[in-house]
This record gives sequence, structure tokens and C-alpha cells, in this order.
Amino acid sequence: MKAVQFAEYGGPEVLKVVDVDEPHAKAGQIRIAVSAVGVNAMDWKLRSGAMATIMPLSLPAGVGMDASGVVDEVGDGVEGVAVGDEVFGSATGGAAAQYAVLREWAKKPKSLSFEEAAGFPVATETARRVLKLLSLKAGQTLVINGAAGGVGLATVQFALADGATVIGTASEGNQEYLRSLGAVPVTYGPGLVDRVREVAPQGVDAALDAVGSGVLPELIELTGSASRVVTIADGRAAEYGVTFSGGMGSGRAPGARAEAAALFEQGKFRMPVAEAFPLDRVGDAQAKSEAGHVLGKFIVTVA
Ligand SMILES: NC(=O)c1ccc[n+]([C@@H]2O[C@H](COP(=O)([O-])OP(=O)(O)OC[C@H]3O[C@@H](n4cnc5c(N)ncnc54)[C@H](OP(=O)(O)O)[C@@H]3O)[C@@H](O)[C@H]2O)c1
Repeated sequence: MKAVQFAEYGGPEVLKVVDVDEPHAKAGQIRIAVSAVGVNAMDWKLRSGAMATIMPLSLPAGVGMDASGVVDEVGDGVEGVAVGDEVFGSATGGAAAQYAVLREWAKKPKSLSFEEAAGFPVATETARRVLKLLSLKAGQTLVINGAAGGVGLATVQFALADGATVIGTASEGNQEYLRSLGAVPVTYGPGLVDRVREVAPQGVDAALDAVGSGVLPELIELTGSASRVVTIADGRAAEYGVTFSGGMGSGRAPGARAEAAALFEQGKFRMPVAEAFPLDRVGDAQAKSEAGHVLGKFIVTVA
């Protein structure tokens, strides 16, 4: 099959479309004929070698963690899914390929496009994991730094569905979309604390930093306590007494994918496709992601 791989760490140019053996579903897994792949920051962090000391890869390695497609193999012990079902989920290896093996998945609603669904897996799992960590309740106010990105948008919509008030930072061009969801947008940058206080006279109960742009002190000031702040991207979390939540850590929320699918069917969850790229342009998609500004997700279409 065709797959995107890299044989050495480096820039987007190390990514090549190559012929490789097809993977197969082991016990507890399914295989899909891939339709679309969601691009995550982790894809280019792994490719560049930036993660090589903590997550060394065996090269050549595939790319992509999120995929949607049609089930064509069901591993031993798997129930509730059959060959021919349309699903989206998390791949065990490179998702940017004609076939991928999934370790976690949810059924794709018929009216949800494969492209949009491919942007759900990491973003939704992360969003629900963080909200559980923050024990956010209906009626409380949440601030999200980076509300227009994949994780940010998923967190906005889960928190609104939970009955919270959501204030999210975004660049001017992404603010109208946040407003249309029911969130209150503010710009990021100097003066953040004053801008948030202006729109949240009731106070702020919890905060998520989904960017790692150095705003943990401001988020602590807004919530009144480091224990009410979680970051998924700031390596200085421990210095401030803030919880860093990682995808391999505790409190994972695999049910978030099915939850997002159900909310989509109720008209309460969308993940806009910012731009779609063909398989031989995964490098361009990763470069766009690395540039750091997006509404929703960059997607790679395979079939
Ligand atoms: N620990 C975990 O479990 C976990 C899971 C998933 C992702 N992550 C990490 O979390 C980060 C975000 O992931 P993602 O997939 O949501 O990224 P993304 O989709 O690329 O979104 C990034 C967002 O950051 C915003 N942004 C850029 N510069 C900013 C600044 N100076 N201040 C505030 N916001 C700014 C952008 O908003 P504008 O476009 O409006 O400028 C954009 O919407 C990445 O570092 C990723 O590696 C961690």
C-alpha cells in the first residue's frame, strides 16, 4: 500500500510517499481503508526529532494519529463494529496511508464527512480529559487559551454542552466563529487578564492553556489558584504548580469520540476543516499546522 513515511528526522521534506506492507488488525483492533487523516502538532514534533529523547521512533516511521475510513478487518474480541462500518479513531501507527489499524474508534454519523471526522480523535479525547481534570460544572466559567484550534474548539463545545460559560482567546479572524458557537472571544496577548475580567464580572472558575504561550501566571491570576488551571502544552507547568495533562497520562477519555459524534448529530459539535491536502502533500499540511494559526483542523485526504 501507499503510506507516508520518514527515514530520518528533519523538516517536512523528509516525508515521502512509499510502498509498504499493509498492517493488519490484531486482537482488540480494527483496520480501516483510510479516507482522511487529521493533522496534529504531535505529527511534526515527532517528525522533526524534537521528541526523540522522550519518544524515540524506530525509523522509517509513519505519520498521523487520527483517521477516518471504512472498516475492512475486525480483530479478535472486538464487538459492536463490522466490516463496512464508517468510523473514526486513533491509529496504532502511521494513519497517513491507504490502510490503518485503529486501537480506539467511534462510529461516524452518516451526515458527518470523513474529512471532518478525521479531526475529532485527539482533539475530543484531550478536551474531555481536561474538563474531567478541572471538574467543571454547569454554571461555572471556563477560560480557554487557544480556543480556535483543534483542542480548543472541542473543549469549547463540550464545556458549552455541559452548561458552562466559555471565554476563549483567538485571533480577530477566528472570533466570529467562537461567538457563533456561544463562546465569548477575547484576543490573546498583553492585557489578557483585564480583557477577561471585563467579559467575566462573575469571575473565572477554571482555565485551560491549549497553546503553551506562557500565560500560566495570567490564568492563575484569573482563577485565583494554580489548582484550577490545566495546560496541555506548557513545559513550565510544574514551576507554577499547574497540572500538565498528557495523552499518555492518567484520566484518558476514550469515550469522548462517541460523545462528539452524538453531539454532532444534535447540532452541537463541529470541527471545521481549515484546509484539506492530498497524501503527497502531508508535509505542507504539517507546515501549516506548525505555523500555529488555524480554525479547526488541517486534514489529509487519502481516498
Ligand atoms: N498534552 C496533550 O494531551 C495534547 C493533546 C493535543 C495537543 N496538544 C498540544 O496542544 C497544543 C495545541 O494543539 P491543537 O491541536 O489544538 O493546535 P492547533 O489546532 O494548531 O491550534 C493552535 C491554536 O493556537 C492559537 N494560538 C497561536 N498563537 C497563540 C498565542 N500566542 N496565544 C494564544 N493562542 C495562540 C491559534 O489561534 P489563532 O489561529 O486564532 O491565532 C490556534 O487556533 C499543541 O502544542 C499540541 O502539541 C497536547
